Amino acid sequence: MHTTIGIIGAGPAGLLLARLLHRAGIDSVVLEARDRSYVEHRQRAGILEQTTVDALRAVGAGERMDREGLVHDGIELRFGGRAHRIGFPGPTGGRSVMLYAQTEVVKDLIALQLTEGGPLLFGAQVHSVAQADGARPTVRYTRESRESTLTCDYVVGCDGFHGVTRNAIPAAVLRTYERTYPYSWLGVLAEAPPVYEELIYAHSERGFALASMRSPSVSRLYLQVPNGTDPVDWSDARIWDELDARLAIGRAPGWKLARGPITTKAVLPMRSHVTEPMRHERVFLAGDAAHIVPPTGAKGLNLAVADVLVLGEAFTELHRTGSTALLDAYSDTGLERVWRAEHFSYFMTTTLHVDPDQSTFDTRLQLSQLARLAASPHAAAELAHNYVGAPIGRGLPRD
Ligand code: APR
Ligand code: PHB
Repeated sequence: MHTTIGIIGAGPAGLLLARLLHRAGIDSVVLEARDRSYVEHRQRAGILEQTTVDALRAVGAGERMDREGLVHDGIELRFGGRAHRIGFPGPTGGRSVMLYAQTEVVKDLIALQLTEGGPLLFGAQVHSVAQADGARPTVRYTRESRESTLTCDYVVGCDGFHGVTRNAIPAAVLRTYERTYPYSWLGVLAEAPPVYEELIYAHSERGFALASMRSPSVSRLYLQVPNGTDPVDWSDARIWDELDARLAIGRAPGWKLARGPITTKAVLPMRSHVTEPMRHERVFLAGDAAHIVPPTGAKGLNLAVADVLVLGEAFTELHRTGSTALLDAYSDTGLERVWRAEHFSYFMTTTLHVDPDQSTFDTRLQLSQLARLAASPHAAAELAHNYVGAPIGRGLPRD
């Protein structure tokens, strides 16, 4: 089988890229190792930047998002016995974010791809991507116990951090940068109505806590836990008690979350990772295949979207004019955007989490930084701009 663009991975990056290419009249094939149900039910992020919201609407995948998504104009920081709200539209010229789970984004994109897109093959485990520097890179995969080869004009690895496309970049060319954090997140989904209007990010000596949501009746909550934590060791009661203890900062005595059945419980590691370059000859990397951010800044999904918006525009330019200018600039412009998001995610993570080895001096520095965010409109604006994300204009984020 041959296609113009071979896409490996049917997460948000691969699916949105397939949509963008289809709308530009460029054929592609999406190869996804897992089955549809697995991909649609993996609990992941929930914050969509304005750029992501606009992109999903533009490709015809915004109808349910606009009906069920929740627009949020700010977040609340809780620290040092106080609470402070950071508003978004004021400092950012009206930009905000939308709460709409990544699982729902993936469902909407899969439904579209299956009704009016190119081939989306589930259960297709890609083993290798070869001939990156040849005229026709080849993708070898197994599906239904049969070995197959897909030849492409270009391959885009949207296969996440554990994917194989990165291996197509020669070791002499590949550079990786990584930081792991001395803590993880215990993430839960609960059938419990959020008692808060906006997301709460809490710095507490007991550790970080985040109160998010999926709907007026479903809460999405996270607790900082030590690396290697087994979710089995956390009963529902223990989770609710710890969340209340960490989130009650700056609230009236007795403040509590509404409780309800916890339906999913999982421990997520915290990692920063960047692969450079994001392209080698005819093979490109996008999304988690190229970079990982700790989830504190809610950047992972939005970075993946930004990568494929630029790639979609670049392939469209090639298709229409034969120019490879945007393709040739993809890695450099992408890495400028990626490193900005890496720094913001690192800043949010290290300011709000308590490293088990940190000193009391470190803790006072964190509290001083948080107090500055509460006192300085400039510091608050910097957080707001990074949180809502910058518009993507021909590959470069423009504030
Ligand atoms: N062959 C085929 N498919 C593969 C292979 C392979 N060898 N390896 C991985 N995949 C698939 C995975 O099953 C997954 O569905 O690639 C897909 C990668 O999707 P994501 O991990 O969701 O990555 P991405 O599309 O870049 O989206 C990034 O997802 O992981 C979150 O926090 C991250 O929110 C961010 C978003
Ligand atoms: C989520 O709702 O899953 C979420 C929200 C904000 C974050 C991280 C995760 O910073």
